[in-house]
Formats: sequence, structure tokens, C-alpha cells
Amino acid sequence: MNEYDSEVATGLLEAAGFKVVGPLTQPSPPGGEGKGEGDADVILMNTCSVREHAEERVFSRLGMLGKIKRTNPDLIVGLMGCMVEEHKEKLFQRFPQLDLMVGTRNVKELPALIEEVARTRKQVARIRQDGISIEYTDLIHRRGKFHAWLPIMTGCDKVCTFCIVPITRGAEVSMPAREVFREASRLVGEGVKCITLLGQNVNSYNGRDVAGSVAGASSWAPPPGVDPPIRTDSRASRHAVLFPELLEMLCRIEGLERISFTTSHPSDATEELFQVIARNPKISRRFHLPLQSGSDRILKRMKRLHTYEDYKKKIGRLRELVPDISITTDIIAGFSGETEEDYQATRKALEEIRYDGAYIFKYSVRAGTPAANLPDDVPQEVKGRRNCELLDLQREISLEKNQGFLGSTVRVFVEDKSAKKENELLGRTPHEKKVVFSGSRNLIGSFRQVILLDIKNETFLGEIAPSPFPLPQRGRGWG
Ligand code: 5AD
Ligand code: SF4
Repeated sequence: MNEYDSEVATGLLEAAGFKVVGPLTQPSPPGGEGKGEGDADVILMNTCSVREHAEERVFSRLGMLGKIKRTNPDLIVGLMGCMVEEHKEKLFQRFPQLDLMVGTRNVKELPALIEEVARTRKQVARIRQDGISIEYTDLIHRRGKFHAWLPIMTGCDKVCTFCIVPITRGAEVSMPAREVFREASRLVGEGVKCITLLGQNVNSYNGRDVAGSVAGASSWAPPPGVDPPIRTDSRASRHAVLFPELLEMLCRIEGLERISFTTSHPSDATEELFQVIARNPKISRRFHLPLQSGSDRILKRMKRLHTYEDYKKKIGRLRELVPDISITTDIIAGFSGETEEDYQATRKALEEIRYDGAYIFKYSVRAGTPAANLPDDVPQEVKGRRNCELLDLQREISLEKNQGFLGSTVRVFVEDKSAKKENELLGRTPHEKKVVFSGSRNLIGSFRQVILLDIKNETFLGEIAPSPFPLPQRGRGWG
């Protein structure tokens, strides 16, 4: 979601006449040479507050920017994203070098707010809680020509005790299905072939009340042969489109070749969703389903609403319907109250489920969450050890899973040239795994059959498969 917001911010700023020189990861020292933070007039950071580590990096970057500001007092420093929602104006006192704070629902006001800071030289915050943080805009500056992020809902109505998202992003709000469909069609019209649907709880999407709530919807008609994305929910006598139905709708857009989505909650991972994935090859063969812990006791403490057994059954059913599905997950190591036995249950879960990949994080207390009232009682070194051991275990499993793909030929979307070598291309398999292979740049944006030959640091090395219909060679055959 953050990347999408950054693309929107970039597009809006460019349309307002700003020259966007980022994204930057390394600050150049004050007075240093070359392009870097020292050269910019405005520096904006789009922030995440899900884990403490991400926040600490922003705080230390703010400290550095304070030093740069001493030599360049005209520099404007701004923050966007979840940290703004979490800390609000309090950050102005702690960081007097901070000029601007823009809430997740106020991105479109960014250019005007920067002008306001430049004019008044006062600290300015716009953190309005009403409205929706999704802005579909054709001013967006997409980094890739063929891939687009498409937020379909924001916020979360679940109450996982460790998680700050319900605080920073608020209650669930879904974009009306018509709007999603229209935006996806517009993107495809611009040449986009792969779309990733985004939402903090993407599979609990509920594009309810579409007909009445969309400005201008009555003037919109679906393309010929496509049913409007609306179903009448007779019990509630309301229009409702749930996630599986939305997916199926989007699959019907001609020219849209791949649809991925993230992030899903196990409670909303339904049989209907699995059936839709099974019958639509356009839907990504990677399913990301956070487990968090393999211990029922900890899952209950986390208020995850599922047991390990429920979760495992769902994965089993999904694998039955889509045998080649690749499953990835999120795990938290060292949550409040996690005993050695709970930790062993998580290890066992990784061994039993054999994920293709897992994001594994050390638990960090987030202020204001329900778990902030529970003791953070797993010592740092124990958390660290469990985290490392889980990462090692998963690394082994991921490697074995990836090795299982070697020798196979898969349909690869050619995304870009490779960052490392001339005449090498970067593509994505149907399981969203990276593959590099030799080929001409004019293949970028097309699909190719690629043989997976080797694997290095989780990236496959491949080769374009010979065509099954070889062209006749000059001078032979064909009159
Ligand atoms: N500490 C550690 N990891 C967390 N996550 C969310 N909140 C926390 C926290 N307080 C992880 C979860 C989630 C992912 C996006 O971040 O695993 O699925
Ligand atoms: Fe956070 Fe996801 Fe739980 Fe919502 S479902 S509270 S976003 S972890």
C-alpha cells in the first residue's frame, strides 16, 4: 500500500510542477557531492509503523535531516503514511526539523500543503480521519509500465492483539466494485498486464452498496460481454460484491493477464475463493496467508480467530484444488507469553506446511495495541534466537521447494531488463518468483516460456524455451 501511496504522491507532485528526484535510500552528507538528500528542496518520507524497527529507522533519518537542515534551513521535511496516523502532531515537538505531516487519507492535498509550508514556514499537519485513503488517479506515476498496484480496500476490522493497523488505518472500507473494475480497465487500456490488488485485509473486501454510492456510476457501462460487477444480496436487499466475485469479474477483463492480491486473513480464505483461484489461471499461483504462530495458545492470545488445525485444513483444501499453488506466510517470533513449547509448535508448522517462503519477524510491542497491556516477557536474546532459527529452517525449506521447480518450463512475464547484466531480462513465474534469462529487450512486456535451470539467492536462472513450432531454416524446405 505504501508503494502505491508513494506512486500517487509522485504523480500529484509532478503534475503540480515539482521535479521528483527520488526515491532515495542513501542521504548524501551536508555539502556532499552528487544527487542526494542534501540537494533536494523537499524530502518526504512515506512511513510504516507495523514494526518498531521500521519506525526507528525513520526517527534516525529525521535526526540526520535535522543536521542537514542546519546548513540548508530552507529544506522542507515531511512525513506521510502510518506513522503520521499513529503519532499525529506530537512528532512536531520531538522533531522541530519536521515541517509537514500528511495523513493517509490526505495524500491528494500534498502539493498544496508543501506550498503552504514554503509560504508560511510554519509546521503544517493535515490528518483528517474522514474519507477513504484510496485515491484512484490517472496522475499516478507508476514505476513499472506493465504492472500496477490497485488498492481495493483499506483498514481492518479484525483485532489481532499485536497489530497497529486498526489504529493507523481505521475500520475497513472497500472501494465500490464498479470503481475497481473501471480503474482496472483503465489501467489495462494504458498497457498494464499484471495487477496486484491491495488491502490490509484484502480478502474481506466487500464492495457493498455500489449502485448508490458511486458518483457518476449510472453513466458507466461495462464493456460488451461483461456483466456489471453487481449482485443483489436479497437478505439485506443491498448490492454486495465479495472478494471471490470481484476477482472473477476482473479475470474477464481482456488484456489483463495476471492478478495477484495481498494480504489475506485465514478467516476470509473461503472455499469459494479457492474455487475461483482454481478455475482462473489468470490469478497468481502464489497465495500469501499469514499464520503468525503454530501454537493455538498463542493464536488465541493474538486473537487470530483460527486454530492451527483450521488453518492447516484450509491449506490442504487449497492444495487439493490448486495442486501447483505456492504458499507463503508471516510468522511472529517471541510474542508475549511464547514458551519453548509454543515456539516448537511454530517450527512444526513450518515443517508440516512447507511454505515456499515466510516473512519472520521478532515481536515488537506497538503502543496502543491490546497486546501492549500484556507482558513483553520473552527475553530479547531468546526472541533473537528463535527468529534466527526459524529463518534458517525456512531458508532450507524454501531452497528445497525451489529446487523442485528446476527443469520445469513455466510461463514467465518479462518485467524488465535485469539490473545486473546487459542483454539479461528479469521475469516473474506464475508463482511470482523471479527469474533472469538472456533475451532481447523488445521481449519486455510479453510472456515467454522459460526453462528454470538453476537457483541463486532465491532468483531462478533460466533460458527461453525453444519454440514448439520452429521457423523453417533459410534454404531448406518450404519451396
Ligand atoms: N511485531 C512483530 N511483527 C508484527 N507484525 C505485525 N505487527 C507486529 C508486531 N507488533 C507482522 C505480522 C504481519 C506482518 C505484516 O507484520 O506478521 O502479518
Ligand atoms: Fe493487523 Fe492483519 Fe490482524 Fe488486521 S488482520 S489486525 S491488518 S494482522
